[in-house]
Amino acid sequence: MAIGLFVHPDDPRDWVGELHAVLPKEEIRRWPDLGDRADIEIALVGKPEPGALQGLSRLRLIHCLWAGVDQLFQDPTFPRNLPLVRMIDPGLAASMAESALAHVLAAHRRLHDYRRQQDAGTWKALPQPRADERSVGILGLGELGRATASLLRPFGFRLAGWSRTAKQLDGIACFAGRDQLHPFLQRSEIAVNLLPLTPETRNLFDAGVFAALPAGGVFINLARGGHVVEADLLAALDAGHLGQAVLDVFQTEPLPQGNPLWRHPRVTVTPHVAAFTDARTAIPEVAHNIARFRAGESPRGLVDLEAGY
Ligand SMILES: NC(=O)c1ccc[n+]([C@@H]2O[C@H](COP(=O)([O-])OP(=O)(O)OC[C@H]3O[C@@H](n4cnc5c(N)ncnc54)[C@H](OP(=O)(O)O)[C@@H]3O)[C@@H](O)[C@H]2O)c1
Repeated sequence: MAIGLFVHPDDPRDWVGELHAVLPKEEIRRWPDLGDRADIEIALVGKPEPGALQGLSRLRLIHCLWAGVDQLFQDPTFPRNLPLVRMIDPGLAASMAESALAHVLAAHRRLHDYRRQQDAGTWKALPQPRADERSVGILGLGELGRATASLLRPFGFRLAGWSRTAKQLDGIACFAGRDQLHPFLQRSEIAVNLLPLTPETRNLFDAGVFAALPAGGVFINLARGGHVVEADLLAALDAGHLGQAVLDVFQTEPLPQGNPLWRHPRVTVTPHVAAFTDARTAIPEVAHNIARFRAGESPRGLVDLEAGY
């Protein structure tokens, strides 16, 4: 039996080398050179070509190399009858937390306002709240949301988090469920989205959500473009209610040239770079999961196919 690696041929990461280093006895076959497809027992996937997993008659486990799995469900042929595991990678979590910290500090220290002032040749000091006077809200308290909260906590921000199920976390005011979304948003001057894209969270950020953020609030989206109704975001920015949007992800990627988000004075665009799976830290996690699976234990990061994450 073999492990099939379904990553894009242009992916520069040394997946095979890292896999061989920790799983020297395993046979690794990289798509599209799979040989006899019936040999593939475990599929390691990023965003496979539609239909790539079809005809793997002895496939028993699908392990995604990305934290999010929504891209897999876009393929109607994706097998939904097998255990699916998503990536929990300490390197990815550290990288995401670092990105979130950079954007939160930029918003807190008003770097976007000063950029606009610089463009206008304006020399003017703006009021600067202390960190303990600044409310930061994190949507999603999973692997990435909690890593972000941990990195932000020493700065003294007033932290809040929103999740699907209720939580108690040190130093974070925890909100859960739709009923508590608006109270959470109302106290989030800087809102960081780290939710998975599921049927429940698709288009979550609409006119009502932007209106619930405090006036002048900053929205930082590091999760998925499908979370945001872009027209509502633009309307909230143009109305002057939302102060700034920092967007790493978009409904359509790459962001089409004609999209008004590119040139909006209150939008920062980055090209889906907030965090990448690091093969060096991720592959040991994959190896642990394969060992757990073969021992009949539940792998870490098993996706609830009903909930979609
Ligand atoms: N831009 C990038 O470069 C990049 C890179 C990596 C990942 N991402 C995105 O980041 C996402 C989060 O990753 P993760 O590893 O932190 O995921 P995770 O560990 O599964 O955590 C997801 C969090 O979202 C909450 N949640 C899910 N559905 C919800 C709902 N309907 N209402 C409220 N809260 C909800 C969960 O609540 P519970 O705790 O109650 O379950 C959990 O706290 C990924 O799915 C991916 O889309 C983006």
